[in-house]
Amino acid sequence: MLRLGVNIDHVATVRNARGTPWPDPVEAARVAEAAGADGITAHLREDRRHISDDDIARLMEVLERPLNLEMAATEEMQAIALRHRPHAVCIVPEKREERTTEGGLDVAGDEARIAGFIAPLAEAGCRVSLFIGHAPRQIEAAARTGAAVVELHTGAWCDLGLEGKSAAQRGELEGLREGARLAHSLGLEVHAGHGLTYENVAPIAAIPELRELNIGHFLIGEAILRGLGPAIVEMRRRMDAARQSE
Ligand code: PXP
Repeated sequence: MLRLGVNIDHVATVRNARGTPWPDPVEAARVAEAAGADGITAHLREDRRHISDDDIARLMEVLERPLNLEMAATEEMQAIALRHRPHAVCIVPEKREERTTEGGLDVAGDEARIAGFIAPLAEAGCRVSLFIGHAPRQIEAAARTGAAVVELHTGAWCDLGLEGKSAAQRGELEGLREGARLAHSLGLEVHAGHGLTYENVAPIAAIPELRELNIGHFLIGEAILRGLGPAIVEMRRRMDAARQSE
C-alpha cells in the first residue's frame, strides 16, 4: 500500500500571518488523521516561519499516527529530534532565502558528516530519511549513510507540467522511476514528495517501489477552497442567530 503523509506546514503559515492561535496545525493534523492520512509531516525550519517548537511538542502529544519531522542537518535540530524522538526524521537541505525546499540534499558531497548526523537519531529509534534528487550517485551515497529511507524530490518533475509530454518531462519521470528502483534494490525504503497535486499524482503514485508520498501545499489550498463555503454558512448562521435572540 502507498501511504499518504500530510504536510500541515501551511496551516501554520496562515496562522502566523496574524499571530493568532488559529488555524491550529495540530487540529489540522487531527482532521487529516480522521480523514485517513497515514502520517503527519511537519518541517521545523531554522527561521520558524511556519511550524513552531510548541507545534512539534503538541503533535508528539496528540497524534495517533506517526510524525515525520522534516529538518535541516544542524545541531539545534538534532537536539530537538533527540528530545522528541518522532517516528521519522526527514533531513532536507534548507536555505533561509528559499520559498520552499528547492533541491535535494547533496549526500554524495557530504557523506561522512551526514552519516555522523544520522547515527544518534537512528540509535534513538527514529527512522531517518534523506530528501534527495534521483541521481544514482546521491542514492548510492544515501545507502551508505545508514539512512533507512530516501524521499525522492518530485518538485523538478512537477514544475515541468504534464502538458506537451516534452522530452524533459519524460526524462525526469524516468529518472524518478529508475531512482526508486535503484534505492529499493539497495535496501532503502522509498518515499517521494514535493509539488504533488490531483493532476500530477497518478504517474508518481504508480511507481511500484514507492511506499509513501508526502503532500502539503496543494492539500491545504484545496482545504481552503473546499472548506470556505461551509465556514461562511456557519458565520452567517451565527450572525443571524445573534440578531434573532436580541
Ligand atoms: N517532502 C518534503 C521533504 C518537503 O520538504 C515538502 C515541502 O515541505 C514536501 C514533501 C511537501 O511538498 P508540497 O508542500 O509541495 O506538497
